[in-house]
Amino acid sequence: MTGESFPLALTYDDVLLVPLRSRVASRREVQTCARLTRTLQLNVPILSANMDTVTEARMARAMARAGGIGIIHRFMTILQEAEEVARVKRPEEAVARKLHTISPHRPLSDASALMGRHNVTSLLVVDRDDRLLGILTVRDLMFEEDMSLPVSARMTGGAQLVTAPVGTTLDQAREILHQHRLEKLPLVDADGRLRGLITARDVLRLTEHPQAVRDRQGRLLVGAAIGAVGDYLERAEALVAAGADLLVVDIAHGHAEHALRATERVKSRFPDTQLLAGNVATAAGVRDLVSAGADAVKVGVGPGAACSTRVVAGVGVPQLTAVLECAAAARELGVPIVADGGIRTSGDIVKALAAGADTVMIGSLLAGTEESPGATVTRRGARYKVYRGMASAGATEDRRRRENPEDVLDELAAAATPEGVEAVVPYRGTVAEVLNQLVGGLRSGMSYCDAYTLDELRANARFVRITEAGLRESRPHDIELMDED
Ligand code: XMP
Repeated sequence: MTGESFPLALTYDDVLLVPLRSRVASRREVQTCARLTRTLQLNVPILSANMDTVTEARMARAMARAGGIGIIHRFMTILQEAEEVARVKRPEEAVARKLHTISPHRPLSDASALMGRHNVTSLLVVDRDDRLLGILTVRDLMFEEDMSLPVSARMTGGAQLVTAPVGTTLDQAREILHQHRLEKLPLVDADGRLRGLITARDVLRLTEHPQAVRDRQGRLLVGAAIGAVGDYLERAEALVAAGADLLVVDIAHGHAEHALRATERVKSRFPDTQLLAGNVATAAGVRDLVSAGADAVKVGVGPGAACSTRVVAGVGVPQLTAVLECAAAARELGVPIVADGGIRTSGDIVKALAAGADTVMIGSLLAGTEESPGATVTRRGARYKVYRGMASAGATEDRRRRENPEDVLDELAAAATPEGVEAVVPYRGTVAEVLNQLVGGLRSGMSYCDAYTLDELRANARFVRITEAGLRESRPHDIELMDED
């Protein structure tokens, strides 16, 4: 092997996108919808990283409301992780809310007392087998003189009762509620049994977060990480049961044979749940993970802000080249890729997507937000939040204390030679504010590249390589900044 035959690999700072003649008159005209996996779509092509200083339920909810998605980290017990998933899926949209029911034979006085006790304005009337017979509202009781009458005498039932099947989406419910001028829409199964309730308020909430990404029942989307050794199948089962829309097989070397085996096992056990697997940095890695069953592949070995893999192990591929290579392979297989790590600015997002990534995963930029679980610290009067690599000494030590070392022996060996660092990042406000900035930059980049959609961005993009001098020129220079972060 001679040095001259080594291929050159580039990263985001090595290139710029060339401005093109553009039809786009305003950034508002461009669409940022993206494919996350074979079947899942996002409105904003950003995932928050599955790290213990980045994503738990609060971050995941904020991400999904803004149109992206959060991946709950796996560095907690199975029960805790499943509970984090359930917290994201919990309504908000109250389809799965507690249903207040009453039997048709009870007197109206009981109904009134029940409404008072539970502070609700209606009761669903069901028979002994939970079959829905009618609905009784506060209005039906108003001015009623004979409160000893049975509920059946005043409820709305029979042909007047409007219901919808289980699985009705909030959009469909909006139509039905509007058409019949109703406030409540009970959901029933094929046997007429009561299974849920959608209210006008649930539907109105939809408009509060117009970009939010939701499942068919109107619940926010969420992903959750599992490992590739030990209890990962048990963990996957609990996460699927809790409602995870996406499982993420998360290991540093996703092209290891045990990672491929884990991907295969998870996919064959849970064929209906979308599976994102990684991390890899080569076309061969993408192909092997896709043949093992991945519905999307995560790309990035060592580019992350808190990573030291490249320094410690001497391994990695600069991220732009990794994305270019992996995207070409993934495109042939019809599977999207996630560019994971190394995103420091909105410009990096534009470059990653232009190079062929479908979405990007972000750690450090989101770790500084209000919604991240990292601790807040104050230094010289400024606010910071803790951010640490998941293979850092601290993170690994925490796991050693919590987990069964037999199961994760190899991963824990990292404690001796950490491949990540512990740090702090500046406090940056809320997720909504940070994403607003990032998406604003993305929209701007798209408008320079004559792209109304991310597909057009990928198709149109023309990169140039730049020099150190070009990079210096690209950043604010020869001035003194008034307000440095
Ligand atoms: P950013 O740059 O957004 O990167 O902070 C987030 C990604 O970094 C990866 N990650 C690690 N990589 N050692 C590594 O080599 C680590 O300890 C580590 N922890 C996180 C991960 O892919 C994440 O999404």
